[in-house]
Amino acid sequence: MRNIYNFSAGPAMLPDAVLAQAAAEMQDYNGTGQSVLELSHRSADWQDVMDEAELRLRRLMRIPAHYTVLFLQGGASAQFAMVPLNLMRNGKADYLITGLWAKKAYREAMRYGAARVICSSEAQQFTCIPEWNVDLFDPAADYVHLCMNNTIYGTMFHTLPDTGSIPLVADISSCILSQPMDVSRFGLLYAGAQKNMGPAGVTVVIVRSDLLERVRPDCPTLFRYRTHADHGSMYNTPPCYAIYVMLLVLRWLEDTVGGLESMAARNRAKAQLLYDYLDESALFRGTAAIRDRSWMNVPFITGDAETDARFLREASDAGLVNLAGHRTVGGMRASLYNAMPVAGIQRLTECMADFERRYA
Ligand SMILES: Cc1ncc(COP(=O)(O)O)c(C=O)c1O
Repeated sequence: MRNIYNFSAGPAMLPDAVLAQAAAEMQDYNGTGQSVLELSHRSADWQDVMDEAELRLRRLMRIPAHYTVLFLQGGASAQFAMVPLNLMRNGKADYLITGLWAKKAYREAMRYGAARVICSSEAQQFTCIPEWNVDLFDPAADYVHLCMNNTIYGTMFHTLPDTGSIPLVADISSCILSQPMDVSRFGLLYAGAQKNMGPAGVTVVIVRSDLLERVRPDCPTLFRYRTHADHGSMYNTPPCYAIYVMLLVLRWLEDTVGGLESMAARNRAKAQLLYDYLDESALFRGTAAIRDRSWMNVPFITGDAETDARFLREASDAGLVNLAGHRTVGGMRASLYNAMPVAGIQRLTECMADFERRYA
């Protein structure tokens, strides 16, 4: 057990048991005498890792059979381009703008066609999820895109727009596997692994298989979902070590935590503990609109930059690290991803209460 709680927004904490297993197997994976870092991606041992990772992800998320699961590289940022390159057949897409990442996705799509902003909470500094009106969606749009959990601002879509027959595409980088979700409501989901799923380097894409045929003719081979689907995510060398650690996390989620319902109960309790404290505090306050609060990322401030900086120093000295808000917004942000135990939030609220007694 380590005595540090890492509240980083990603790369983020991994379960102790996962790190211990990775360390134990570092020099000899499965009796092969080779490290996973050295295994050929064309070996049977490696194929087993790929197969089990996909199987466990499908089971945990209850991914329907008519969806394809891909393990890619390039982070969620690569998906900002791959989504339009693969889906923008009519050259039209609608975007809901809820923060920096959603905006980056939108800007990238503008390179490939007529991306449109349906609604935005930029005027509210992205502290809330904007109202949307389904009548605004263009029936000829190739997809509607949203960012489900807004890592920087601590907001989340708790209800989804009904886009009818227009495929809904979502960036779920900072909420994947945090609670059950109905995959069948989406045309495509994508997430970088480095928050809830494993180390940086692997990006999961879950796409309704019929959408694989919409790819634009000018889309490069490596950026086509079809290419990766046809080669079991091994058209070229995959990010092996990141996928292997992801598999260990998926095993932990299924076998130790007991699946996404249990994970959701833990995550809700963790977030509630911090929000309850913030709502009572005379010094600290949360910055996100209450109805849109994220369970994963909780930004908060004192209202005074000097006091924020002092708190961050004291928290870090107490072993509560990486609590600084995103460089574009400042203040504090506690990321409470799956691997963060409830004890970490208890320690955080104790540290905040102690600070408040001395400085309020
Ligand atoms: C919601 C969201 N989308 C996209 C990104 C960018 O991800 P990547 O660095 O994997 O490209 C992040 C990174 O923090 C994020 O939180």
